Amino acid sequence: MAKIKITGPCRLEGSVTINGAKNAALPCMAASLLTESSITLNNIPNVKDVDTLASLLNFIGAEINKKDNNTINIECKKIKNALAPYEMVKTMRASILALGPLVARNGYAKVSLPGGCAIGARPVEQHLKGLEKLGADITIEHGYIIAHANTLQGTEFTFDKITVTGTENIMMAATLAKGHTIIYNCAREPEIENLGQLLIKMGAKINGLGTDTIHIEGVNNLYSAQHSIIPDRIETGTYAIAALICNSKIKIKNCNPSHLIIPLKKLQEIGANIEFTNNEILIQSPEKLSSANIETNPYPNFPTDLQAQYMSLMTQAYGTSIIKENIFENRFMHVGELLRMGANINISGSIATVYGKTNLLGANVMATDLRASACLILAALAAKGETIIDRIYHLERGYVNLVEKLSSLGAVIQKIN
Ligand code: EPZ
Repeated sequence: MAKIKITGPCRLEGSVTINGAKNAALPCMAASLLTESSITLNNIPNVKDVDTLASLLNFIGAEINKKDNNTINIECKKIKNALAPYEMVKTMRASILALGPLVARNGYAKVSLPGGCAIGARPVEQHLKGLEKLGADITIEHGYIIAHANTLQGTEFTFDKITVTGTENIMMAATLAKGHTIIYNCAREPEIENLGQLLIKMGAKINGLGTDTIHIEGVNNLYSAQHSIIPDRIETGTYAIAALICNSKIKIKNCNPSHLIIPLKKLQEIGANIEFTNNEILIQSPEKLSSANIETNPYPNFPTDLQAQYMSLMTQAYGTSIIKENIFENRFMHVGELLRMGANINISGSIATVYGKTNLLGANVMATDLRASACLILAALAAKGETIIDRIYHLERGYVNLVEKLSSLGAVIQKIN
């Protein structure tokens, strides 16, 4: 089992290049099921979750060609298996993104319920309610979602909860429904807008991208398209926090600062000096970081996927910070590990109170989910001494070459077995 060893404290310098966003790549890949033509996606991140979804799409009937590490061509001429098996879905919940396209294209889909994960129960009833409103018959049998629909009918549907993949699933399904669909209370993440732009290139008729109300005029077919995946805003935020926790100055290249305006403003509030263009960020740490509170909320607010990383940073800030997690019910799994490194954090329900500045010491710790892994790495960069992080397979699901990138910035970090 691979682990990561870091010897801190580290200082960083130089520049880092951001890869394509995992959470934009996955829905765009799933969209290939909507057409028998081929789609080509550029700036795809070379991470485990992309490989997992590619395997599922291949099982369903798509031909996958990786032109290079970052370009993938997917062509699903025929649906061979309208099935997303439990063995595949349990390793990656985002497999649920096959549901909407399969029902729309094939009129039938059998997709394993994703089940929960470390950060929460993560139900998918909103996805199912949306598909039912579009005319699908949905039953749950032996842990599988069974969906039938001769043809989907345009409708008006309002999400009870803001859901990223729920919005993506219903938007994809509605592109092939008969008639007009209006979806209210949509999530507004940039990854959804990126998916919508691909669908429009494929021939879909969509208005309202980037807002909470999306209008779709159904079409009979979708066609070939080529599309670039947006830079990963969570990877960008992770490296910005790395610069601050290491009291350093770095340049972040090939990013899109407009996708993380609120997190960047928060980092400025705690003392960071940030200059940015449309695709680069120059971030410099102050001598002393100040504490500041955050609440995680749907885009464009502070993203839940940066909460753990920000918590690591607040252990190094002077003062008390209150972190409220509003999206997932169990996203403080990293706190126990931070406490073992010497952090002073108190949890009460969905609120964590961080008392800084504490001098962290290296320790043996264990990653519990993708973003908690990043949080522990950040803490280890600031900690005095050696930290060994176990279960780093979580990390490889969503970060491209994080060890190599941090090492090239000057961190004393390596992968060990
Ligand atoms: C997406 O997950 C991301 N994953 C997550 O990133 C991200 O944390 C999350 O959005 C929130 O931004 C991908 O895009 C592949 P939700 P998703 O549906 O779509 C509840 C990462 O680290 N809910 O927006 O599954 C749900 O339980 C991952 O890259 C329902 O109750 O999240 C949660 O509390 C982690 N019923 C909240 O809504 C539903 O039917 C937001 O979930 C759907 C969701």
